[in-house]
Amino acid sequence: MNVLITGSCGFIGYFVALEFLTKSYTVFGLDNFNNYYTPILKKFRLKKLNKFRNYNHLNLNLVSKRDVYSLSKFLNNVKIDLVVHLAAYPGVKYSLKHPDKYIKNNIIATQNLFDFINTANNFEKNIILASTSSVYIGNPLPYREDACIREFKSPYGYTKFASENIAKFFHSTYNFKVVILRYFTVYGPYNRPDMAVYKFFQNILKNRPIVVRGKEIKRDFTYVEDVSKATYNSVDLFRNDRVFEIINIGSDNPLKVIELLEVMFKIVGKETKVIIGQYADFEPRETWADITKAKTMLNFNPSCNLYENLRKTFDSLIEFWSIL
Ligand SMILES: NC(=O)c1ccc[n+]([C@@H]2O[C@H](COP(=O)([O-])OP(=O)(O)OC[C@H]3O[C@@H](n4cnc5c(N)ncnc54)[C@H](O)[C@@H]3O)[C@@H](O)[C@H]2O)c1
Repeated sequence: MNVLITGSCGFIGYFVALEFLTKSYTVFGLDNFNNYYTPILKKFRLKKLNKFRNYNHLNLNLVSKRDVYSLSKFLNNVKIDLVVHLAAYPGVKYSLKHPDKYIKNNIIATQNLFDFINTANNFEKNIILASTSSVYIGNPLPYREDACIREFKSPYGYTKFASENIAKFFHSTYNFKVVILRYFTVYGPYNRPDMAVYKFFQNILKNRPIVVRGKEIKRDFTYVEDVSKATYNSVDLFRNDRVFEIINIGSDNPLKVIELLEVMFKIVGKETKVIIGQYADFEPRETWADITKAKTMLNFNPSCNLYENLRKTFDSLIEFWSIL
């Protein structure tokens, strides 16, 4: 079986690629190494993926139609059984100042990819699309998949919801089979540098103060290997000829950011000053996933060993920082 993974050198893409590689899939990974954060980290992940003989890398930009339509040539007409579309511009706060990047990389890139798959004769129309808990803002907790998506506080949120709607259009009009996974605050080894876990470990090591956006702020932190397993398990859903599912991938265990910090202090073996700042209005004070659907449909069972998961994350960052 052959899978195309977009954003394969990103944080989650790397783990999803590993999951498919170790299940004996041939993986075609695609990434353009954009500079939202240091491409050195993306290349570092690629180096690890390239150790697998069943990994093949394609350096393409999904925003460029020409790049996307060169995929068939790159793939040499290999049949692709499944596409996992993870490539996107992430980050809620950055999107407020740079909406154009989100419109291009989250909407236009997704449209280009779906248009191409629709015409390519070596692609099965089976898509797993990464979405986000950010679409739920304003909804009661815990967030359920059947919630009404009623408001947006960031271009990140509305562009990811637009990508869901593109997938829905291709499902209803062209019979694409689609599984949309709404991930909740993912953390783990080789974490994205703009995210709290990476920044907090860095600040603790460097004795810099940490600013927390509100004392009670809580996130449904979800471990990246749980996310990659759930993504892999979604493959079974494509047995259904008309599948269209939206499924939360969270841990159903909201944790205060200041409690997360206490565990991180223990792991590093030292503390740094914590400044409690204002709540931001572009993000919810709490996120919490209802994961009933994931448990039933994907056999999802998130690991709850926060200490061990954070320790592995810390070790991986030490490894990465040592090559900089
Ligand atoms: N990390 C989280 O907590 C989280 C939470 C919810 C949803 N998500 C979603 O999961 C997916 C992966 O997120 P991540 O945290 O791994 O981010 P990431 O930035 O680490 O990975 C995305 C990858 O896609 C690549 N990419 C972006 N635009 C591209 C384009 N036009 N062409 C080719 N490659 C492109 C980037 O270079 C990057 O390597 C995204 O769709 C994101 O919206 C992530």
